[in-house]
Amino acid sequence: MKHKNAHSVLAQFFDQHHAVRGTIARGHITPTDLLPLGHVTPRLTRFAAHHDTWLFSKVVGVVAEHASRSGVTSITDLGAGSCIPTIRACLEHPQYTGRVTCVDIDDDALKIGAENVTTYQLAPRYTFVRNDMLDYLDRNSIATHSALVANPPFLPVPPGSDDPYFLPVDGGPDGTHYLRAILTSALPVGTLVGLEWSSLSNPAAVIGMMQAFYDVLYVQAFDIDAGIYTEAPRLRPYIEAQAARGLAVVNPPADGLMGWTFIGTVLRKKR
Ligand SMILES: C[S@@+](CC[C@H](N)C(=O)[O-])C[C@H]1O[C@@H](n2cnc3c(N)ncnc32)[C@H](O)[C@@H]1O
Repeated sequence: MKHKNAHSVLAQFFDQHHAVRGTIARGHITPTDLLPLGHVTPRLTRFAAHHDTWLFSKVVGVVAEHASRSGVTSITDLGAGSCIPTIRACLEHPQYTGRVTCVDIDDDALKIGAENVTTYQLAPRYTFVRNDMLDYLDRNSIATHSALVANPPFLPVPPGSDDPYFLPVDGGPDGTHYLRAILTSALPVGTLVGLEWSSLSNPAAVIGMMQAFYDVLYVQAFDIDAGIYTEAPRLRPYIEAQAARGLAVVNPPADGLMGWTFIGTVLRKKR
């Protein structure tokens, strides 16, 4: 019953906000698809899900469009990794001329991100900060007329997991550890927030927080046949149990694989 409820909450959210729908196959996106704007292939971090980076780039592009129309002069990217999504947004939306602050906890990711912004000649507009994203949110007030974007770790991972393989994706026991903190943080009214998340990240709870604190400006929902991390033998049975509890929504399996949905949202803080 609960399971059905999570499905219908998600379906209603997509309908209500006229979600852009699509499907994306694992392995479909290659590194050269990520930034097809120059002759250089960007450097990639150990985060292996290129399709996720590609989908998040669409979200950041929508944020850049809104930002340039509403006088926003700064975008903060929490968990910025390779920086490909913001680089792409700056190149494809030149009307956004503001700054970008990239926060990541992983030294290698920060190094690779900095190399990529230099390659694409955007370094003067970028600042890099090594910090836990939630600590950063706590300690730094986000300015009025700014935007926050994040493709944070959002997969449900069993409590007590300390496997470094899951660092880029470990969103805590129900996948909402970072999403909840971002959505409930005291951002100024009007702040634009671009978030990548998923049908596995306790969607009823996430949608409840979005509806309480934000106007929803844009939604995209892309079904995937199976995720790289979610097929890991340590993770899949846990996610299936989460789905049975109504805390994750999986799509009908094809070829024995577990499908699910990547969700991108652009929000504006209303209170
Ligand atoms: C899902 S990946 C997204 C990377 C990039 N934004 C993209 O879309 O390709 C999550 C990123 O968050 C970083 N990360 C994980 N936990 C973090 C934390 N507690 N604080 C800051 N960054 C974190 C990882 O190093 C990784 O680069």
